[in-house]
Amino acid sequence: TVNNSKVVINIQTQGTDTISKHIYGHFSEHLGRCIYNGLYVGEENKIIPNTEGVRNDIIAALKELQIPNLRWPGGCFADTYHWKDGVGPKEERPTIVNRWWGGTTEDNSFGTHNFLNLCEVLGAEPYLSGNVGSGTVQELIDWVQYTNHADKSPMADWRRENGREEPWNVKYWGVGNEAWGCGGNMTAEYYADLYRKYATFMAGWSTNTKIFRIASGATDSDYHWTETLMKNVPHELMEAVALHDYAVFDWVDKGPSVNFDEDVYFKTMDEALKMEEYVTKHIEIMDKYDPENKIALFVDEWGGWYDAEPSVANGVLFQQNTMRDVMLAGTVLNTFNNHARRVKMANLAQVVNVLQAVILTDEEKMILTPTYHVMNMYKVHQDATLLPSEINNNPEYRKLPTISVSASKDKNENTHISLVNIDATKAHEVIINIDNIKDISASILASEKIQDHNTFENPDKVKPENFTDFKVEDGKIIVTIPAFSLIVFEGK
Ligand code: AHR
Repeated sequence: TVNNSKVVINIQTQGTDTISKHIYGHFSEHLGRCIYNGLYVGEENKIIPNTEGVRNDIIAALKELQIPNLRWPGGCFADTYHWKDGVGPKEERPTIVNRWWGGTTEDNSFGTHNFLNLCEVLGAEPYLSGNVGSGTVQELIDWVQYTNHADKSPMADWRRENGREEPWNVKYWGVGNEAWGCGGNMTAEYYADLYRKYATFMAGWSTNTKIFRIASGATDSDYHWTETLMKNVPHELMEAVALHDYAVFDWVDKGPSVNFDEDVYFKTMDEALKMEEYVTKHIEIMDKYDPENKIALFVDEWGGWYDAEPSVANGVLFQQNTMRDVMLAGTVLNTFNNHARRVKMANLAQVVNVLQAVILTDEEKMILTPTYHVMNMYKVHQDATLLPSEINNNPEYRKLPTISVSASKDKNENTHISLVNIDATKAHEVIINIDNIKDISASILASEKIQDHNTFENPDKVKPENFTDFKVEDGKIIVTIPAFSLIVFEGK
């Protein structure tokens, strides 16, 4: 059915803020089959084509997405990870027990060189998460020196011995992860003090790079955490503050990733749309202490988190990905775009085989999830100018705003509008007012059922299609957007 009342969206034709490409970032953690038997199948693997052990099919898929950055090695894992155990001859590396994720024993065969070389191949900026919880200041500054120092120094010499002459010039450095939880169960005040010490010593080792130090941030609505960091940390020591928010309505019973009903769909979307409120309020606090907008907000973990698929061996946090995830990603990315002034990076959790993954693998098979297609359709916003928009007469789906939008103009003067209808049952007529736009084309991501997803047997069940079912009249786009669908318009 179509809802009768018309939604009206006004889009300005000029804007001042750039949508940082880093909003379209990803996250890879030593967790389940994200790294081992996911991204990384080993240099010796003769069955699955690979580059330095990383699957070529995954490399190609991520290049197509133009992923701007990749965060590693965690997550909770980061605060147990000792990077020196992952460099040098592989046969001499000690093992590490992954105490957060399944207690598996890893052989440290995927280490700093693998990760940073992979980022180079992808053309993505690496984002390294430092170990504050169980590491030391010395260990972290040695990592900075190892990766970034161009001249003679103990760590740069060790890097050369291990086969890498030039520094990688890593810009993004996380100072711990979830310090309020798995990163050490610290108070905001204690972490702020500890952060000051780490951040002080991290500077000065990078020959060609000004590093970006990212303070471990709040979860969801923990505004006290952000307030404490902004108040207690000298601003010259902190380039970004993080925020984590997963769309989970019940941490004990998260519900299945595929066989959910409409009530559960609604509950997930209710959580997902809270991102708007969280980001708005954390930004308000940052604006109070940093009116010049110098410190960025990085939402360096976000996404849907459901019960893991029980059928998959070693599938810690392995879940399927449906049209519900399309709605989640489409609306949350619109929120990030619309807050581009302060939100300068975001990292979807996680890139392969974990949580809201864009890629799933099964032995030599690989599929792209519906969320992959959202990222691919939205990549047009990367580094484009945000065009502010407002929605009038937005109907409610249950109690949630039904339509979500963001718009941008790229360097070639192409305008893109990403429109989402989260209503599970009704199409909605939308009138988009935007002056001087012509040659409009569009693509749509839609499917028959909200539970539809891609499988290894049917990998293209959910995929974008060309969309022509709209009219252009007197500077207006008039479209009936189907229930639970996402459309991206392009015009000149
Ligand atoms: O992404 C899974 C986990 O979620 C990460 O390790 C942690 O940072 C967060 O709690």
